Amino acid sequence: MAGIVIIGAQWGDEGKGKITDLLAENADLVIRFQGGNNAGHTIVRDGVKWKFHLIPSGILYPGKPCAIGNGVVIDPKVLTDELDELRAKGIDLSGLKVSANAHLIMPYHMLLDHAGETKLGKLQIGTTRRGIGPAYADKAARLGIRVQDLLDEKILKKKIMAAMEPKRLSLRPYAKSPELDLQSMTEDYLTYGHRIEQYIADTARLTWKYLDAGGDVIFEGAQGTLLDIDHGTYPFVTSSNPVAASAATGTGAGPKDLDEIWGVTKAYATRVGSGPFPTELDDDLGAAMREAGGEYGTTTGRARRVGWMDLVALRYAARLNTLTHLAVTKLDVLSGLGPLRLCTRYQSPNEASFDHFPYHQSVLHRAGGEYEELPGWDEDITDCRSEEELPQSARDYLAYLSDFIGVPIALISVGPGREQVIWTDAGRRTAPFQRAAIA
Ligand code: IMP
Repeated sequence: MAGIVIIGAQWGDEGKGKITDLLAENADLVIRFQGGNNAGHTIVRDGVKWKFHLIPSGILYPGKPCAIGNGVVIDPKVLTDELDELRAKGIDLSGLKVSANAHLIMPYHMLLDHAGETKLGKLQIGTTRRGIGPAYADKAARLGIRVQDLLDEKILKKKIMAAMEPKRLSLRPYAKSPELDLQSMTEDYLTYGHRIEQYIADTARLTWKYLDAGGDVIFEGAQGTLLDIDHGTYPFVTSSNPVAASAATGTGAGPKDLDEIWGVTKAYATRVGSGPFPTELDDDLGAAMREAGGEYGTTTGRARRVGWMDLVALRYAARLNTLTHLAVTKLDVLSGLGPLRLCTRYQSPNEASFDHFPYHQSVLHRAGGEYEELPGWDEDITDCRSEEELPQSARDYLAYLSDFIGVPIALISVGPGREQVIWTDAGRRTAPFQRAAIA
């Protein structure tokens, strides 16, 4: 049996979708555990690009059991649109299950997200404006509407009224907005309920079923460790816990069910939205990396901020998540960029140098990077399929990274295609690889 958690080890957008897709092939269940449609996964299969916001990446394997766990917040319009699109393309959705306990994003959550950001002005977080924060806030305030509520008109209406009551003041500017009409909101959500009813399930029991029978379960994370509400760069974070521990709470699995923890990291760094980013490259080189890496958001289309690999932050992520494996993505983007820098320490404006990720917001905001510079390479590496085929400097770059973090690299991605990966020896010893070899 193996529970394999896949999390982002940076600020999100590390390429978790592709890694999940690869490992999902031989898994018995893929389950998402947090976030919502603020996430966006792009998968390239046979030259066709697939974009997912809510549905687990494993869905492209016919009949593959895929679940949306209780820790996810669901916008039912986005979910039903995604289902329609997949169905129209002939994808078999029979394996899909949606937790009855997952919370719903309501129209007022989106309005409040928008209003909150507008009010913050220059101090805004740069949220995806999908209503994620307000939905998790209602969950914590015990005013949330859950998937199971969609199946009972009376309960649904009562809960919507109770949830809207304390928000009356902040929703006043939208009082005439048709989305806030109680009757039509209830009707719309009941319709969503009918449309997803066949998928609603007790996903915790489903997860136990596979784990207890000795199966392999992939726990698919969204966003990244540095966007974690407890351990990330608060308040410039998302409103859930993208760290590995939340794979348990967000699905119902126990902590001991999590056998392998895979951290996905790009070979450099990116972040979307506001907040500290010590290794940011706000120059032509950064722009070149952004273009080479196609660094524009799947969900919002926003240009991502780009920077050098931050090993201080990555080591912090390795510890927080007790990473057992690293998957390094987009190594090909570094080809032809000249010498490469990796941040090994931070420096504060008074020139004090430190090697840990600071807990204090002001310290991090003012920190710059201290770098190790390694030779780059010019070769196109997109066709490399083994470590031996990589240029020596690319291998040295990866070895430096892995040694610094103290976590073995299991696989390296050298292009968007599913076949553009290199499995390392450490990768070949993992549960998913063993499983693939048997299959
Ligand atoms: P929210 O999750 O929409 O509330 O946004 C909060 C912060 O997390 C913002 O800086 C977003 O840009 C960032 N964020 C949310 N989801 C993702 C993601 O999937 N990738 C990268 N950044 C994200």
